[in-house]
Amino acid sequence: MPNTLTLALSKGRIFKETLPLLKAAGIEPLDDPETSRKLILATNQPDVQLIIVRASDVPAYVEYGGADIGIAGKDVLLEHPNAELYEPVDLKIACCKLMTAGRENESPITGRIKVATKFVESTRRFYAQQGQQVDIIKLYGSMELAPLVGLADRIVDVVDTGNTLRANGLIPMDHIADISSRLVVNKASMKMKHARIQTFIDQIRSAVEEQNND
Ligand code: ATP
Ligand code: PRP
Repeated sequence: MPNTLTLALSKGRIFKETLPLLKAAGIEPLDDPETSRKLILATNQPDVQLIIVRASDVPAYVEYGGADIGIAGKDVLLEHPNAELYEPVDLKIACCKLMTAGRENESPITGRIKVATKFVESTRRFYAQQGQQVDIIKLYGSMELAPLVGLADRIVDVVDTGNTLRANGLIPMDHIADISSRLVVNKASMKMKHARIQTFIDQIRSAVEEQNND
């Protein structure tokens, strides 16, 4: 829409951690996505709306123009290495690490390692850099279960406190990447709505700096 700014966000962690940044940019949603069933949320600014999508769908919405701007974890963006997007700001929220993990007391692995993950692209790239041939099993969640039931030898997942791994008898192994959420911008929107988007980027950037100087 020509005069509207559409922001794609996911519910939960990213929404919660983004709210203070949006507020600093003068944007406040009129509904709470945790309680509302609406997928398009109006804000206090008549020309700004939020759309609520799955975290892993944010790059598609922004790349193909369903949203002008989005907020996505670097883990998700790394799965779309060829996406035509600008990534102007590291928001320094939802911070974690992408890691390999395995059983604390694993028996020696014979043959090709089986790795279960939802991060297929990062996993493929990581093991290729190590010169190691692996079989990747694509999962959509609860990766920690895979080594426990013999589906895989290793997993690749995001780790923050390490509690989920520990609770399942797994230990973190290789560090693949530091993860935080990024602001992403549709390339055509950046041209067509340049002044509006640049102002938004500047406001968010200052809010991030302020949040990290506290
Ligand atoms: P989807 O709904 O597409 O499966 P998801 O369930 O992974 O996505 P969230 O759990 O809300 O979505 O995570 C959103 C982002 O937050 C992730 O892409 C990642 O960058 C970051 N993240 C995930 N888990 C953690 C964590 N435990 N601590 C900090 N940041 C995290
Ligand atoms: C994420 C991720 C890990 C966990 C890591 O799950 O999938 O399981 O966080 O965090 P930790 O190291 O602090 O335990 P999340 O809590 O987002 O639930 P999800 O399965 O719905 O993604």
